[in-house]
Amino acid sequence: MAKIISIHSFRGGTGKSNVTANLATVIARTGCRVGIVDTDIQSPGIHVPFGLDESKVKYTLNDYLWGRCAIEAATYDVSSVFTSRQKQNWFNKNPGKIYLIPSSIKTGEISRILREGYDARLLNDGFRNLMQRLKLDYLFIDTHPGINEETLLSAIISDVLVVILRPDKQDYQGTAVTIDVARKLDVQKMLLVVNKALPSLNPEALKQQVQATYSVPVAGILPVCEEMFHLASSDIFCLRYPEHPWTNVVNGIAKQLIDNHKPLNPSFSLGRMRS
Ligand SMILES: Nc1ncnc2c1ncn2[C@@H]1O[C@H](COP(=O)(O)OP(=O)(O)OP(=O)(O)O)[C@@H](O)[C@H]1O
Ligand SMILES: [Mg+2]
Repeated sequence: MAKIISIHSFRGGTGKSNVTANLATVIARTGCRVGIVDTDIQSPGIHVPFGLDESKVKYTLNDYLWGRCAIEAATYDVSSVFTSRQKQNWFNKNPGKIYLIPSSIKTGEISRILREGYDARLLNDGFRNLMQRLKLDYLFIDTHPGINEETLLSAIISDVLVVILRPDKQDYQGTAVTIDVARKLDVQKMLLVVNKALPSLNPEALKQQVQATYSVPVAGILPVCEEMFHLASSDIFCLRYPEHPWTNVVNGIAKQLIDNHKPLNPSFSLGRMRS
């Protein structure tokens, strides 16, 4: 059975979509079959770093939720992110697969879902079908910030809820609310990730401080970096900058997600992106 990992943050712009895209890619690279669902129906975006050609998108999550198609029809194989690197001989083994279920970026479809809503239970059914039919090892759920119906549902069904926060007082307060809600929902496992930390901050001290504040393990402290601004979501950061400190921390988080789920192929090392 696939492991479900939801990525959430109370406030917007913390890096959820980029972190989700990178964790999914790094895990797929180990040979796994990974699905990603963009449940941020109000402001979708994770299709961007995967370079999904919008003109080729016939169905989206919205269509599935309106009963216009099966969930597989709204699924796009974005494993081509590996192709160019394979050509450059970066990998010495075949990477796995990444399947993306995008949300619609059409104004009318976004406003319709905000106006009319949908049956949130369909999301759960869709996830289950997807995991079974695509034989997924992992399903990542990229969420809308704040607490709403999709967030609650994704938190409940997750094997791991990853909550991202920036070192910012507003984020700290909001994260406390999220954690409180998650505890009330009996979420199986929670991990915190701090993103956009100033490189001058001592990561170990920050980790201890955040862990002590929330009594939730911190899986990694990701530095704020100029390269991420330059990349501007145009690619998967870890593939573009395989040796970067941000990538190293993502690899560490991915390893924690993989551990206790499925033994790693012993010939594979998360830390090495080039052959
Ligand atoms: N460590 C980082 N350093 C610098 N910029 C970053 C970092 N992480 C993310 N960003 C930038 O922050 C912006 C928001 O990132 P992203 O879209 O992944 O966040 P999000 O939490 O998904 O946002 P939303 O809540 O709107 O869905 C993007 O421009 C991204 O490039
Ligand atoms: Mg996002």
